[in-house]
Amino acid sequence: MKTIELRFMFFLLLLPMTTTNNYNNGSIQLQPFPPLKNDNLLRAARGEVVDRVPVWVMRQAGRYLPEFQELRKLHDFFTVCRTPELACEVTMQPLRRFDLDASIIFSDILVIPQALGLTVEMHAGVGPVLPQPIRTPEDLKRLTPDGALSRLSYVGDAITMMRHKLDGRVPLIGFTGAPWTLMGYMIEGGGSKTMSKAKAWLYDYPEDSKLLLNLLTDVIVDYLEMQVEAGAQMLQIFESSAEHLTKDEFLVWSVPFLRRIRDDLVDRLTKKAVSTVPLTIFAKGAGHSLKEQSELGYDVIGLDWTVDPVEARAAVGPNITLQGNLDPQDMYRDPSELHTLTTDMVHKFGKSRYIANLGHGITPQTPIASMEVLVDAVHKAL
Ligand SMILES: *[C@@H]1O[C@H](CO)[C@@H](O)[C@H](O)[C@H]1NC(C)=O
Ligand SMILES: *[C@@H]1O[C@H](CO)[C@@H](O)[C@H](O)[C@H]1NC(C)=O
Repeated sequence: MKTIELRFMFFLLLLPMTTTNNYNNGSIQLQPFPPLKNDNLLRAARGEVVDRVPVWVMRQAGRYLPEFQELRKLHDFFTVCRTPELACEVTMQPLRRFDLDASIIFSDILVIPQALGLTVEMHAGVGPVLPQPIRTPEDLKRLTPDGALSRLSYVGDAITMMRHKLDGRVPLIGFTGAPWTLMGYMIEGGGSKTMSKAKAWLYDYPEDSKLLLNLLTDVIVDYLEMQVEAGAQMLQIFESSAEHLTKDEFLVWSVPFLRRIRDDLVDRLTKKAVSTVPLTIFAKGAGHSLKEQSELGYDVIGLDWTVDPVEARAAVGPNITLQGNLDPQDMYRDPSELHTLTTDMVHKFGKSRYIANLGHGITPQTPIASMEVLVDAVHKAL
């Protein structure tokens, strides 16, 4: 009798989890998602023939869209991230306006520091603020890696919901910040022009820096695995703060962790017999190390606008897809200039193994018409 009651209670405890979460305890309920209608992004990533050059834009769901700003008046930034319905609505907004070839789930790279117990606030006009940053190695004890993944489950829920809402129109990209970039925010307490505190850590506390970067790498692998299981069809790793590192520093403080993210993720998915998805590394400012990046096992390398497309291709060889890399400031040029610049860019990259994008996120004042020009020019270039 007692056993039966206990079993029943256990069942009740499990019930809400299994009905509200789509990926429960790590064993994905492989759902029948709607079939993909436009798979040019994934074809380009795999080096297959495309119907047209795929194009999407970093931060395509963002402040340059008035409907995004309207929604943000009603809900704060992290509420949008944490509420799958709102995250999906915002993710969908650019697709209603533009003939894009990909969607990227609306979220933020700083959800990982949040899940590790740090407070992250989004301050209007300032950006993210972490009021209690990591100052000394002693502060690492405040981080809570246990259970971090479960505190990120809302991202998986948003991804699964979005796959259904997309109805197979275009692939859905998931993403994460890379370890060095997250470490930078966690130590600086927000964005920084110099990363002086985070860079000082690398020299003052090299062992603790490695500890932190490895801790972040572990959480990132869990997080990406969860995103794939939830339905992400491609993943991008943002090493946005690579630009603060010299080449030598990049090879020590970024590359090994990027390599481990890829290797551990592929390993995990393979063991679970879950198909792996194309992986993109976008290390902004690391155009000095394209060859090294091409040896990390990623399918796609994202380029910022400082890199010449022809030189990039020569550096990475024929078997890597390149993504990028129009200067986001070119979106402020007049439409005919923007059209010409975009067409020239696509001609330099070519139709094979290429995904068109900006060289960094679209900026808030960008005219909406520029997005139309960009997308149209990419699709008509070749
Ligand atoms: C997860 O739950 C399923 C049933 O919902 C079970 O079959 C599976 O063994 C569990 N996996 C793990 C890793 O606990
Ligand atoms: C590119 O891939 C092809 C096909 O797998 C292979 O034959 C070739 O050696 C590769 N080239 C380089 C430079 O890795």
